[in-house]
Amino acid sequence: MAQTAGALIGIDVGTSSTKGIAIDPASGAVLATAEHEYPVSSPHAGWMEQQPEAWLEAAQDVLARLRAETSETLGIGFSGQMHGLVCLDADGSVIRPAILWNDQRSAPQCAILESGGGLERLLRLTGNRALPGFTAPKLLWMRQNEPDAYERIRRICLPKDFVRDHLVGTHRMDVADASGTLLLDVGARLWSSELLSWLDIPPWWLPELAESTESVGTLDSVPVAAGAGDQAAAAVGAGITGPGPLSVVLGTSGVVLAATNDYLPDREGRVHAFCHAVPDRWMVMGVMLSAAGSLAWYHDTLLPDVPYDKMLGEAEQIAPGSDGLTFLPYLAGERTPYADPDARGAFCGLSVTHGRGALTRSVLEGVAFALRDCLDTVHDVGAGAVRGRVSGGGSRSRLWLQIVASALEIPLETMATDQGSAFGAALLGGVASGVYRDLDEASDACVRVSEVIEPVPAWIEPYRQARRRFREYYPALRAVG
Ligand code: XUL
Repeated sequence: MAQTAGALIGIDVGTSSTKGIAIDPASGAVLATAEHEYPVSSPHAGWMEQQPEAWLEAAQDVLARLRAETSETLGIGFSGQMHGLVCLDADGSVIRPAILWNDQRSAPQCAILESGGGLERLLRLTGNRALPGFTAPKLLWMRQNEPDAYERIRRICLPKDFVRDHLVGTHRMDVADASGTLLLDVGARLWSSELLSWLDIPPWWLPELAESTESVGTLDSVPVAAGAGDQAAAAVGAGITGPGPLSVVLGTSGVVLAATNDYLPDREGRVHAFCHAVPDRWMVMGVMLSAAGSLAWYHDTLLPDVPYDKMLGEAEQIAPGSDGLTFLPYLAGERTPYADPDARGAFCGLSVTHGRGALTRSVLEGVAFALRDCLDTVHDVGAGAVRGRVSGGGSRSRLWLQIVASALEIPLETMATDQGSAFGAALLGGVASGVYRDLDEASDACVRVSEVIEPVPAWIEPYRQARRRFREYYPALRAVG
């Protein structure tokens, strides 16, 4: 390691807030944290938008607070919510609110893209299928529905790139985040010119690509890394730089991610095949759209006055399997394994015997079973692993971790620093600034496992049975329309 005095800063431009962390590069110890919240607006059902200027203001505030609390800043890295479409005009001004990763409006454009051999062509060119959350279908939606705004586009970028470009004065994008645009040849780590001409999207709208660890400029003379989408950054923050443990994320969305040496697209596109934030590595990722998001919806809608601790304590009293009650977590449509923007949630098998504790436990279990669907699909693609490392807000509940470990049937490791993506972004900043030679050195210095949560042996069989029920409900309800 070249230098140790001073701090590395990681900034994660998230969906509910921008979070920042300053760490000691020698040990990974947290020196300071800061957070700045902002709203999401949903002007129509299925739409999710945010003002890019709110991210910028939040990041500037978080950066200023972290720098005020620490000594010299050695390097800065950014991560952020993936896939969000930010459109800029000839003056670099934002044309319309950003269309976010969980927005479903472009489902018709995805259906058209995949029709008549389109799915096979997309899989060949990008390794991924058209999902409404991805960036390219949103551009096609704009072209059809907001032609005047579309005509004004001169540049597009992703959320954290909008912020970083503004601070550093460049137009760049890392290949890990670019993978989620559906415009990248993920295997080659380059924009796909064939795809761009097929979709009639001008190549000059797109930023120059970089690897996540590359320095793309400076801020007050401090090197700034290109950074990465939040999932790749969370994996880096958990020390997942290559084959080994999986990253299991219990955030608003839920993720099971395996880092791979090779590009491993799924023939049917059931999982996302993306570039990793580590040069020459890829990742395979199953994404469910409502993980901790399901629990937040359940709490805020049905039990807003009940503290989380009490609610989870009641769930703990209930036997695994929630007395036959099943929750389907498809509150915002789904990506893995169903790729269905119209999938919907449900409580199935309700009876008068079910109380509040059973309802709560079934939500925790439904999310765990959906994560197991992601894990099985990741395994199918050939990216197996025998343990996971957890991050995300939901991982603060020990009960939920035990349920997830028992449903996945693998031990889950919690990390000493639970700042996930922001922590990973700080490590990317450390490589960009030359503090570390590479991410393996960063990880050796900073990443520590704090505890291992084992599957509960007595829960495994009840969960196998409950999962069989869980898997039958989605197709049955889908058939109802
Ligand atoms: C990943 C995805 C989400 C967002 C959440 O593909 O869409 O995890 O990145 O921030």
